[in-house]
Amino acid sequence: MPTTLITGGTVVSTTGRAAADVLIDGETVVAVLQPGSELLGADLASGADTVIDATGKYLFPGGIDAHTHMEMPFGGSFASDTFETGTRAAAFGGTTTIIDFVTQYPDQNVLDQYHLWHEKAAGNCAIDYGFHQILSDVQDSSLTAMDELVAEGVTSFKLFMAYKGVFLSDDGQIFRAFQKGAENGALMMMHAENGSVIDVLVQQALAAGHTDPLYHGLTRPWQMEEEATHRAIMIANVAGAPLYFVHVSAKQAVEQIAAARDRGQNVFGETCPQYLYLNLEDQLGAPGFEGAKWVASPPLRSKHEGHLEAMWQALRSNDLQLVSTDHCPFCMKDQKELGLGNFAKIPNGIGTVEHRVDLLYQAVATGRISLERFVEITSTTPARMFGLYGRKGVIQPGADADIVVYDPAGHTTISAATHHMNLDYSAWEGFEIDGAVATVLSRGKVIVDGGQYLGRKGDGVFLKRGLSQYLV
Ligand code: URP
Ligand code: ZN
Ligand code: ZN
Repeated sequence: MPTTLITGGTVVSTTGRAAADVLIDGETVVAVLQPGSELLGADLASGADTVIDATGKYLFPGGIDAHTHMEMPFGGSFASDTFETGTRAAAFGGTTTIIDFVTQYPDQNVLDQYHLWHEKAAGNCAIDYGFHQILSDVQDSSLTAMDELVAEGVTSFKLFMAYKGVFLSDDGQIFRAFQKGAENGALMMMHAENGSVIDVLVQQALAAGHTDPLYHGLTRPWQMEEEATHRAIMIANVAGAPLYFVHVSAKQAVEQIAAARDRGQNVFGETCPQYLYLNLEDQLGAPGFEGAKWVASPPLRSKHEGHLEAMWQALRSNDLQLVSTDHCPFCMKDQKELGLGNFAKIPNGIGTVEHRVDLLYQAVATGRISLERFVEITSTTPARMFGLYGRKGVIQPGADADIVVYDPAGHTTISAATHHMNLDYSAWEGFEIDGAVATVLSRGKVIVDGGQYLGRKGDGVFLKRGLSQYLV
């Protein structure tokens, strides 16, 4: 097996940082050599096939984006990134693993959908990938499928309290799925917004002639996220199921999660960069149809109500445990435009898979979170939460050599003109990052270096995941 030595860098983990050389044999880290082991290091360096000089740079475990929707059929269109384009873009941004959601609409068979997702992804991905399974109508066969999927390494299932008539499951369906999760050890995931009330608010807004993108936000108030979060926690409590909230956006929803955790319930949550940095007034409320760029659910929240600050605080206090993107890109042309004159027809989603690591690193650069916490929320906790830890989420002997060489002296300006996502605009246009991805290794292979893509489609393999480490 060819060997690679990364020299001179600072290896960062959840518990600290240390100057260390990292030796890779084939796809795997075989040694992390700290000062004191120079002799050994020198021996190995002289024998290494490739030496990467990381002087002055950080070595992070490859980013894990636990929430993506490549090629998702949704809102009358398909998310514009394929597994090929989306995973390549992820690689450019220092993400070396995604966990994508297999969709299941009412009347579709869960296992058929799961096999379809394998067909879409196999041979196309730049980085490794796993799947979560979406459940909508929770048929008897869906419950049986949950056992089969856990055995296949799909150990987490998302349900929706939103999107009435599309994905929404009623409380009884949710309860049955949660009971199955309690039985087979899977992690249940929830999109918590009260879809029935939102549906009425949307119809009333449209009837009153309010068609602009801003109304997407105004018809999905935080109260409906708080209410659904509380309801899901109570249903999970009775079912005895662990519960993970996706894309948490409202301060009051975090309070519900924190309260449940304080009571000892196995409840977890992620937020997304858009709920940390963007807001209802400045983005969704942009003039004309511009706000469509930021239509996603839950919506961006008001900058006057403390939501964004609450997300940062929850990340610091561990009331929320990680940051995923909810990458679900739709181009303005022909896709977001479907909602011209009717905000309810704008496909919901924002594309961020390329920028999550940079956007969170900027929080380190500006002193919002520590470097160690950054590694925790972008890589280590996603690995532990979703049954990948040991292989992913850490730089240590035995782990896959998924490593990001990150330059804290570099600079990144985000723009649609330079990004690699298949998206005709950037929700992050003009964002400046005081750092830059220098080199990305996926299982020992350099796939990105100095802004060049050196990998090939099909480099990425399917990851059969174990059960969440947070539950056992
Ligand atoms: O607007 C969003 N979030 N689109 C993707 C689907 C979902 O709810 O995660
Ligand atoms: Zn969702
Ligand atoms: Zn999503």
